[in-house]
Amino acid sequence: MGGSKGGDGREEREDADGTLPEGSERSGLLRDHADARQVAADETKAAPARTADRHAIVALDPDHPGFRDPEYRARRNRIARMALEHTPGGVLPDAPYTAEEDRLWRTIVEALAPVHERLACAEYLEAARRLDLPNERIPQLQEVSARIRALSGFRLEPVAGLVEARAFLESLADGVFLCTQYIRHHSTPFYTPEPDVVHEVLGHAVTLASPRFAGLNRLVGEAVRRTPSAGELERLAHVYWFTLEFGVVREEGQVKAYGTGLLSSVGELDAMSRAELVPLDLEQASRTEYDPTHYQPRLYYAGSLDALESSLSRFLRAWPSAAGS
Ligand SMILES: [Fe+2]
Repeated sequence: MGGSKGGDGREEREDADGTLPEGSERSGLLRDHADARQVAADETKAAPARTADRHAIVALDPDHPGFRDPEYRARRNRIARMALEHTPGGVLPDAPYTAEEDRLWRTIVEALAPVHERLACAEYLEAARRLDLPNERIPQLQEVSARIRALSGFRLEPVAGLVEARAFLESLADGVFLCTQYIRHHSTPFYTPEPDVVHEVLGHAVTLASPRFAGLNRLVGEAVRRTPSAGELERLAHVYWFTLEFGVVREEGQVKAYGTGLLSSVGELDAMSRAELVPLDLEQASRTEYDPTHYQPRLYYAGSLDALESSLSRFLRAWPSAAGS
């Protein structure tokens, strides 16, 4: 999700030179998406009360790749503070990325590009061409947001870190994607224990440049707005996970990714070929648990993006009456 990620690092991530921090599986550091968002929100909620301490905004786990890098932590805090002080609807603040971080972005983009050509769905590739993001530096959210808005009406708003699932999902109804702005630590280019600008931009922002995916994201938000119950909200979050985060589609006989968690991660795309593929069943998906700390062993596929759009739209528009709870 946004302010969320489809991780670049899961347990089988021996492909990358970003090494998995010792003990991160045990500590739950890799948890992300809706579940961890809830946990981390407790930290960000407390942030305004701690504004006197300029180093206390972002609490990194000791296993975090950037934990022992004071400059990185200070930059994370500056970026988090900018998001906290941002007025929604205003011009998005530029993040103070370093030359090293721009190189990190380039490394990731160059690793993903050939994999995307093989494994990304055609609509993602077309949206990426239309967005025309820079390869040599991290794009600022303002420019990304402006380009998406022109293409689909969606826009980005910065968040300091993980936000609650309901806040994240409901904002989609307004055509707003809550977006983290920091980038992962440069020591682990293909691993991040949390959502970062790579996942947000290369995963979510690119797909949101497609009117089809923008529309589906809006429908998720509208369905969440009609869902007061936490249990039903969780089911919708599962639907989001198994479709817009980790969905795959058959195109010309091949399996292609349309889910943002897959598209933003070389490791996830690589693991996709080993996953069990199950025909998309939204009712079943809404009741299926998942483990965000591992590469996804089971993915739901749609026969085509038209079929996905049709079934997901129908399901979300009928929600909660068709939820069968
Ligand atoms: Fe995500």
